[in-house]
Amino acid sequence: MTDIDVVNPVPVDEVQPWLASMATTFLSDPESDIFQRQVEAWRREWYPDRTWGARAHGRWVATLATEARTVTVPGPEGTTRDVVADALTAVTVNATHRRRGVLTRMLTESLAAAKNRGEPFSVLIAAEWPIYGRFGYAPATQVSSYTLFPRLRPDLLTPAETGRVRQVDPSDLDKVAADVFDRARRLRVGQVDRPGAWWPRRLGLDGYRPINHGNAPNYFVHDGPDGPDGVLWWAATRDFELNGDLGAISVGNLTAASDHAYRNLFAYLAGIDVIGEIALDRRPVDEPIQWLLSDGRALRHTGLLDDVWLRLLDVPAALSARAYARPGRLVLDVVDADIGGYAAGRYTLDATEDSAECRPTSESADLRISQRALASTYLGGFTLRQQAIAGGVEELTAGAAARADAMFATALAPWNATGF
Ligand SMILES: CC(C)(COP(=O)(O)OP(=O)(O)OC[C@H]1O[C@@H](n2cnc3c(N)ncnc32)[C@H](O)[C@@H]1OP(=O)(O)O)[C@@H](O)C(=O)NCCC(=O)NCCS
Repeated sequence: MTDIDVVNPVPVDEVQPWLASMATTFLSDPESDIFQRQVEAWRREWYPDRTWGARAHGRWVATLATEARTVTVPGPEGTTRDVVADALTAVTVNATHRRRGVLTRMLTESLAAAKNRGEPFSVLIAAEWPIYGRFGYAPATQVSSYTLFPRLRPDLLTPAETGRVRQVDPSDLDKVAADVFDRARRLRVGQVDRPGAWWPRRLGLDGYRPINHGNAPNYFVHDGPDGPDGVLWWAATRDFELNGDLGAISVGNLTAASDHAYRNLFAYLAGIDVIGEIALDRRPVDEPIQWLLSDGRALRHTGLLDDVWLRLLDVPAALSARAYARPGRLVLDVVDADIGGYAAGRYTLDATEDSAECRPTSESADLRISQRALASTYLGGFTLRQQAIAGGVEELTAGAAARADAMFATALAPWNATGF
């Protein structure tokens, strides 16, 4: 252990060798053009204080970074509210130094830093399920993948009466995309924002070069009665043949700030000639398109995965920040045996129609609940009763779990459209 130094902050001069270490662990090619583009992008948005690494014999062997990202939590009557959270990314420990506690050292420090900054919770997307539970993270949202087979019926999807889809260059998309996304993300709980240079980086503008892993995408905007309200891009993944074999496309992004935009973007996709399959990844588990299709089975559910993992760092702040589906009062005894133990304590939660207050208490508890179970329930993605089988939920007052589930519920499944 002594030959490994955990470093924080990491100066921007180190971006290239730090990312080269990450590339080894994430199986990417440090000689590739894409890697050089990533180095340029990271150099321009580098937060030394929020960046960790570990060095052994002068070489980077581990990486970890966090960002402040805005996450939507439930607001009153189906609306959402913004909370600035700690978002963990770029976690790697080279196999030469694995299982020697390097991740534990870096993440213990970064969670303490998030707690000190006052961020009420931390989020991440896990490469593998078993890594992050010991740090208190638990799955809070899910994503689905689908394939739409548009040729199953000619009348699969009719467009809305207003609105139109037009193809645009990336620079034209950039003029409207941030605003459209900002409105759209507020329609769902669990959305992580796309801050700073996210759009120019993604679109290859302002001196950024695009980072595409397959064909370059085609970009589209939907104009509604009040201006742009939808953004779409897709790339071809299989060519069509003259013998009638149909091609395939993959949708990289479909953002709709209105129901019309949503319907029209899908109607446009379903109407593209010469393709038989449209792959949709990182979509909500309750994708509404099914209800608009003349044959709902033209949409095949191809995958379901845990997505945002959440770790509560400040229970009163996190629980007071969201609204609840029903008014109610609960006393929660939160058990937090994971690294940091930041959520442990007993708290009252008082929720009315439009406000909520959570604070420490010494009253007797209605529910004894693990921090992880509370984290999985916090955005409405999972119920306590679903999780009770795992033993992290103990009812001390009869019916308390059902009451809590009714309060924490959201009408739509939480969904995050943005990788980080
Ligand atoms: C996952 C990874 C960061 C772990 O780093 P590490 O320094 O080996 O982790 P630590 O030594 O601090 O491990 C702490 C504990 O977690 C366990 N653990 C760590 N990674 C694990 C994994 N992938 N599966 C199961 N257990 C794991 C360790 O066994 C250890 O348990 P112990 O204390 O009971 O012995 C590293 O293996 C890695 O970079 N993997 C490939 C890239 C990746 O998956 N990154 C995560 C991106 S979200």
